[in-house]
Amino acid sequence: MIEQVRYGGDYNPEQWPRAVWDEDVRLMVEAGVNLVTVGVFSWAQLEPAERVYSFGWLHELLDLLGQAGIGVDLATPTASPPPWLSVRYPEALPVDARGARYSHGSRQHFCVCSATYRTRARRIVERLVSEVGEHQAIEMWHIHNEYGCHVPYCYCDNHAQAFRAWLQRRYGSVEALNEAWGTAFWSQRYGDFAEVLPPRLTPTFLNPGHELDYARFSNDAFLEEFLEERRVLRSARPDLPVTTNFMGFYKPLDYFAWASELDVVSTDNYSDPADPDGTMLSAMHYDLVRSLNKNVPWMVMEQTTSRVNWRRHNSAKVPGQMRALSYQAVARGATGVLFFQWRASRAGAEKYHSAMLPHSGVASPVWAEVTGLGGELARLGTFDGAGVEARVAMVFSWANWWALEAPAKPANDLTMADQLSWMYRPLYEAGATVDFCRPDEPLGRYEVVVVPSLYLVTAKEGANLVSYVERGGTAVVSFWSGIVDERDVVHLGPYGGPLRPLIGCEVLDVAPLPDGEELEVEWEDGTRTAAGFWTDVADEGDGHVLARIASGPWAGRPAVVEARRGEGRAYYVAARLDPAGLERVYGRSGAVPAEPSVLRSGPGVERVMRASAGQSYEFLINHSAEERVLEIAPGGFELLGGTQIGGRVTLPPLGVAIVRREDDRGA
Ligand code: GLA
Repeated sequence: MIEQVRYGGDYNPEQWPRAVWDEDVRLMVEAGVNLVTVGVFSWAQLEPAERVYSFGWLHELLDLLGQAGIGVDLATPTASPPPWLSVRYPEALPVDARGARYSHGSRQHFCVCSATYRTRARRIVERLVSEVGEHQAIEMWHIHNEYGCHVPYCYCDNHAQAFRAWLQRRYGSVEALNEAWGTAFWSQRYGDFAEVLPPRLTPTFLNPGHELDYARFSNDAFLEEFLEERRVLRSARPDLPVTTNFMGFYKPLDYFAWASELDVVSTDNYSDPADPDGTMLSAMHYDLVRSLNKNVPWMVMEQTTSRVNWRRHNSAKVPGQMRALSYQAVARGATGVLFFQWRASRAGAEKYHSAMLPHSGVASPVWAEVTGLGGELARLGTFDGAGVEARVAMVFSWANWWALEAPAKPANDLTMADQLSWMYRPLYEAGATVDFCRPDEPLGRYEVVVVPSLYLVTAKEGANLVSYVERGGTAVVSFWSGIVDERDVVHLGPYGGPLRPLIGCEVLDVAPLPDGEELEVEWEDGTRTAAGFWTDVADEGDGHVLARIASGPWAGRPAVVEARRGEGRAYYVAARLDPAGLERVYGRSGAVPAEPSVLRSGPGVERVMRASAGQSYEFLINHSAEERVLEIAPGGFELLGGTQIGGRVTLPPLGVAIVRREDDRGA
């Protein structure tokens, strides 16, 4: 059990002379660092030539860190094979959709289906374990780095072969494959699995079923490699937790499937500090990551102290912002906040990426922030392991994301990210913390379940959502839901497929709206809000119409419909409502409190509740550049300032308060 929030970063001492390591460790202690990730990109140092190993430096480093009481998250180096590997075995390099082979000289240049790569990756992991696996400083295994990053899809012949075997397992016969993909269209019928290729360059749209299955297969191929590494690590040290660093809403990998294989879920968050939506997106990122495996802890494996170096313009975090954003993660349950990286590199492609210890060393203002936060976190402990309270769930699935954004749709600018932000924003602004859930997971513990464009829905998922409502739950379902099955084949009839019981109207067609065009929406009480981007063309059904389109060619058609089902209720939102309209739906459904929240004192204040048996922790973070005055419940103790607090509270710009209260709810 971790008794302190983990604090530290990626540590790449192989980039520095030995003398620097002593200073590193001394400064780490000064900064309150208690965990560093070592070895992520060390393959070429550990195995400078094939089967020629050099582990002396790693032994020495682990000793040094261990003596200083700094834990090590030891990485397998398989995300960046050394040059000798691809020179000797070019087939271990990935290939793009046009057939061009990537080269070494950067990173992530490997084909995960190459037996050559796989054998050598396994071998270096075995060697790592046999050399240092017993070292006391190791607290956790960090497998690989950001699986899929840079090269999520490879189209080489190794992949073609593995894909065919995968399809054979999935469909059994080529007839079943033809049926699933609808290959009667455009003369795409396959006579044999051997004719199937990865979705390489084609003149126009690929078969969407083909692309969807390639996304599934590619995810599985990476996961299989991860599991192979995990087997090696676990067989030697079954006592050590295993993680791999995710990238939040990263489309190519189904992190729900991955997270169930992890002991600690970890993520890298580089949301843009200059983006006005940055804190909302970052909250959503953390809510997702926390929810991927609800039975294990999660942490931020990487963030930056100030700038990244890979955007067109890399805005710096302003003083105080790194602290506020780190507390945002802790508020949402993170058991660690780590950075890329400990010491800023002198050379290489990331030398201008900010670090905990910048080029200017301890004189840098960033260093003062780093030591300040480290000191605070060390004093705070771990909040009795208090869980994050979420009454609202948002339904999300990667298969849906893949299918939703496949080309050739009514609106090709309808993205998962937009639909998520649209539905998440009012919840975030009202301080309603959200858990993310797979469409087929038990939902009974949530008061309200929000379903943004669940375009692809299986019979099982649909039945789960319908039964959640029938048993007393409340669902808010947006347009473009229940359109296709797991093969990307349309559910005929009025749209909705297995979700139709939750859609109290008859969705006969859909109407993407011209750019910028707004429709009026009239509510039962005569008040009006607006909608844009999209409206369904629906007839009334057995639900109660709460709002109608009130202008333009679809005037009179349902825009928001309430349907009572069993013990529960479902709200169907048939158009992209403006925030005021969506807030009304959320108010009526109970997703957010109907009366104005204490947070409406001005934008930019985030509130998250954590609770354990006997204690609650209210996190208040002012992300704005202005002072905010809030009204909070009485009788709390503010942990950062060490004072009693309650009632009217003033938070300075980027200020944070953590209010502990005795709470007998869970006791
Ligand atoms: C990713 C990688 C790191 C580093 C950072 C830079 O998260 O894992 O190695 O490249 O990006 O932002």
